[in-house]
Amino acid sequence: MPENETTAPSLENLLHETRAFPPSSAFAAQANAQPSMYEDAAADRLGFWATQARDLVTWSTPFTQTLDWSGAPVARWFADGKLNAAYNAVDRHVEAGLGDRVALHFEGEPGDTRTVTYADLQREVSRAANALESLGVRTGDRVVIYLPMLVESVVAMLACARIGAPHSVVFGGFSADALRSRIADAEAKVVITADGGYRRGAPSALKPAVDEALAPKEGAPATTVEHVLVVRRTGQDVDWTEGRDVWWHDAVDGASEVHEPVQVEAEHPLFILYTSGTTGKPKGILHTTGGYLTQAAYTHKYVFDLKPESDVYWCTADIGWVTGHSYVVYGPLANGATQVLYEGTPDTPHRGRWWELVEKYKVSILYTAPTAIRTCMKWGEDVPAGFDLSSLRVLGSVGEPINPEAWMWYRRVIGGDTAPIVDTWWQTETGAIMISPLPGVTATKPGSAQVALPGIVADVVDDEAHSVPDGGGGYLVLSEPWPAMLRGIWGDLQRFKDTYWSRFEGLYFAGDGAKKDEDGDIWLLGRVDDVMNVSGHRLSTTEIESALVSHDVVAEAAVVGAADDTTGQAVVAFVILRGEHADRATTPEGAEEVQAELRNHVAVQIGPIAKPRRILVVPELPKTRSGKIMRRLLRDVAENRTVGDATTLADSSVMDLISAGLKKPSSNED
Ligand code: PRX
Repeated sequence: MPENETTAPSLENLLHETRAFPPSSAFAAQANAQPSMYEDAAADRLGFWATQARDLVTWSTPFTQTLDWSGAPVARWFADGKLNAAYNAVDRHVEAGLGDRVALHFEGEPGDTRTVTYADLQREVSRAANALESLGVRTGDRVVIYLPMLVESVVAMLACARIGAPHSVVFGGFSADALRSRIADAEAKVVITADGGYRRGAPSALKPAVDEALAPKEGAPATTVEHVLVVRRTGQDVDWTEGRDVWWHDAVDGASEVHEPVQVEAEHPLFILYTSGTTGKPKGILHTTGGYLTQAAYTHKYVFDLKPESDVYWCTADIGWVTGHSYVVYGPLANGATQVLYEGTPDTPHRGRWWELVEKYKVSILYTAPTAIRTCMKWGEDVPAGFDLSSLRVLGSVGEPINPEAWMWYRRVIGGDTAPIVDTWWQTETGAIMISPLPGVTATKPGSAQVALPGIVADVVDDEAHSVPDGGGGYLVLSEPWPAMLRGIWGDLQRFKDTYWSRFEGLYFAGDGAKKDEDGDIWLLGRVDDVMNVSGHRLSTTEIESALVSHDVVAEAAVVGAADDTTGQAVVAFVILRGEHADRATTPEGAEEVQAELRNHVAVQIGPIAKPRRILVVPELPKTRSGKIMRRLLRDVAENRTVGDATTLADSSVMDLISAGLKKPSSNED
């Protein structure tokens, strides 16, 4: 029986008794972070960043300028310096005599394992870089990576970085259509994929989605992709296009293990990562090399208090998301960390799988998402109690607000009541952590991400861009440029300016609501735009609406994120069927069939992660006189609340119609 259901003290008591956890003196004495870092950065912010860049990154040509903000909002950091990100992540550790240190403890879902040292990684990355070059990839060419969590995924990213070919990783859960549009937008030359991967106890296929994404399609431009490099993971049958498709083992295994990394300018693109915005079209977030690597390494060292000689670090994020880029690949490897890389899901073959891995590898730093923590809470604390978790000494949280109850559970049940929790706020766009406590320095507080890191300037402002006083709420903004900031949206500078820089003059608008508490600490309150956050994954309401209306039976659709105890938010769709199909939803069976069809259609258009939890067939949608859908009212319906103020509706009877309609058997839940 999960303890939180029966014996846990009330949340109010918990918060009252334990408003903040000061660092233990033992932790503080050994901590990487020092209180003086805040003072140093405040006194000379650019000098502080220049020091980090020199201390944590190896430059083939040292930089002399720290920041050029003359082209704002496109920043140039360390612009006259040169470096190679893969060299920094791998080779320099081998050169320093650390070749035998384990870089990756890979654990496949079926239980197969592979230990990769830094020397192994250097050989693998060099071979892969040579293989990519022999397939025609040159500095500046884009490579799309569509892989499960494998050693090859890390190797592929670093091989691209070694050549200076920007990678664009597409999460393996995205559909062929989503993959096609990302490949087309990036104009990729090569795609790296696998036959499949293991998920929930069975092989699942990946290559067919690549084949479909590259197949000629009416109205779509001819593909720019010349080769597909395929990792054999599951051994399942795959279709093969001669001349285009190449097995990874054929191209990479025999390639030379010597490769000279290409030293690129600090502002050379390192990667493009697509993320959902408020419009239907995903944005290609562009990150460059020097500033990104500096902040990824800096945050990883200080926020997680990494001691590379003794720690075993594990970030559970997939490389398809930015967390996997900055805190599986670039940050930890730049710092010479030893880490766990796990292919599968937390509950396969049993619900203790994660904790089993923590015990097996003596993981000391764990970085995961609140949804995962809440799911483990639901499974009950007797599951982690069956494993020795005493190696854990720092716990991280990312991707969505963590509720104080989950925070307390994480600390007590997983962290043995001693491990500090770092609740880290950041975004694909920020590239690296921006707001977080520093363990050993900051007293941690359940539910609050707390303070901007040294070198970062964040604020909460009102509608007029005025800083709100302590105790006030508003919008989270970043007031000064930071090294890992996005340098734009791939191919669309205007959209970059409009999206982030037009809401408040001279400030970066993150899209999040936030408040400051009486101590001035920041609490994140979720998105204030049309972006949803489901299990820490960003989804656009507009993108899912577009997917729904592209189905024949749908006339109109509105999507909202409804509060959900486990996943933070859940996708709820309201659809109006086209006249000729309206009859289909009048019987329970008919409605179920339509709903199943639509959910499947969204999975095909975007990916299974975007499937609506519920689809409600309605006769009308609530709109203002100017035709804007009032999502606030739909959210009330989706969350089973009394519908709020509807006086600005063009037709105020609409909500009655919707409520009456929903009493009929036309709503479903998966
Ligand atoms: O709303 C914030 C939420 O996730 C958004 C960024 O999503 P994405 O670009 O996919 O990056 C996720 C991993 C960095 C933010 O705008 N978010 C992220 N971290 C937190 C958070 N919300 C609250 N607390 C956090 N620690």
